[in-house]
Amino acid sequence: MAFSKLSFIFVLVHVSLLFSSLVLSNDDEDNLLQGINSYRQSVNLPQFVKNGKAECLADKIASELEDQPCTTITTGSTIVPATQTQLANYPKLLNKCKIDMNTTSDGVILPVCVPKMVPTLVLTNYTHSSYAKYLNNSKYTGVGVGSEEDWMVVILTTSTSTGSFSKAVSLVSQMGFGHYLLPIALGGLSIYLSMAFSNMSLVLFALASTLLLYSHPVECNEKEDDIFNAINDYRQSHNVSALKRNNPADCLADEIADDLADQDCTGNEAFAKDPYRTVPMLVNFPKLAKKCDIEVNSTMDGIILPVCVHKLVRDVVLNNFTKTAYTKFLKDKKYTGAGVGSENDWLVMILSTDKPSGSFSGATSLVAFGIVQFFVMSFSGLLLAITLSF
Ligand SMILES: *[C@@H]1O[C@H](CO)[C@@H](O)[C@H](O)[C@H]1NC(C)=O
Ligand SMILES: *[C@@H]1O[C@H](CO)[C@@H](O)[C@H](O)[C@H]1NC(C)=O
Ligand SMILES: *[C@@H]1O[C@H](CO)[C@@H](O)[C@H](O)[C@H]1NC(C)=O
Repeated sequence: MAFSKLSFIFVLVHVSLLFSSLVLSNDDEDNLLQGINSYRQSVNLPQFVKNGKAECLADKIASELEDQPCTTITTGSTIVPATQTQLANYPKLLNKCKIDMNTTSDGVILPVCVPKMVPTLVLTNYTHSSYAKYLNNSKYTGVGVGSEEDWMVVILTTSTSTGSFSKAVSLVSQMGFGHYLLPIALGGLSIYLSMAFSNMSLVLFALASTLLLYSHPVECNEKEDDIFNAINDYRQSHNVSALKRNNPADCLADEIADDLADQDCTGNEAFAKDPYRTVPMLVNFPKLAKKCDIEVNSTMDGIILPVCVHKLVRDVVLNNFTKTAYTKFLKDKKYTGAGVGSENDWLVMILSTDKPSGSFSGATSLVAFGIVQFFVMSFSGLLLAITLSF
């Protein structure tokens, strides 16, 4: 009896997590994947299984292609990972997704560009072009789909080690797992509480796990966390309250660091000389803010502090913040939140305020996502409460 309830809650938690990840993903991509899997069935092959790493890479490649006109690639120009010539940034993109390049050589990358992503045209661009021969090939078993603006990227993976798009001794996978453990643990805990107290506590726990799930950073980086904490220590030593982590600012800091990653450190001087001019100097700023769903108006009162230090040696990075023109910002009470991002030798710290003009917000889509997740989890909690009351 207790066991069946326990397994029931586990199933529920999994279903709701699955549901919420479906909600997050993109309609165009889901439609295409369904179409491609129907095609696979029509040629008597098993459906493609989603490959998270390939999906990450497909998204990154789509972002690279985003600003290019459709004419730069004619449908049918497969990108073959083994040659890599078509994508200058390929190693960098693999690195972002923590994929070992050796596991990609047997895969295949299929980009198409369709103005406005007309679903039928996107699908026929795969099923009625030279790409069809890849879809109709039992060697490929997994798939990752990514899109941005008019560009769709499909990556097909194999079951062999040379095409599995895997490996990653990474934080990402560990964090990914941790992300699931928390709600599962809370789900389990709520069973005990529902027996001890009223069923209402279940709903509360479903809510609490939603909030925790939502506020938990998806991906973190030890170096960034370490600098963030050290800066908070510095603030406290000057009797200024600690900065809270600001998730959209984190996202933007990461995007800016990515954008700067290929520049050498000499560019840092210009930033450090006049922090108020950093935003105008970042030519891609509006685009990067958009990627993080941040309204540019909500960044006006914030400040962006990039530093460049070879190998990001901790003490040197800290000196770059605490013994420079940046110092006065760190000590300023007006700033209450922060985001940190890094890539190669660059680390970017963003300080945000509590005011709308400095909150780095405007993320309507994330808020909407939170609400959906909230309902899904609350609904699961209610269902559970009903089931347990029988
Ligand atoms: C990838 O393959 C190359 C050449 O075959 C090899 O030298 C390298 O060590 C491999 N890398 C990993 C991470 O296995
Ligand atoms: C592919 O998409 C383009 C639009 O970009 C469309 O003109 C073309 O007809 C499509 N090709 C196929 C085979 O569906
Ligand atoms: C799929 O491939 C098989 C054998 O490789 C071939 O006989 C068949 O005609 C192909 N089907 C389509 C729809 O391309």
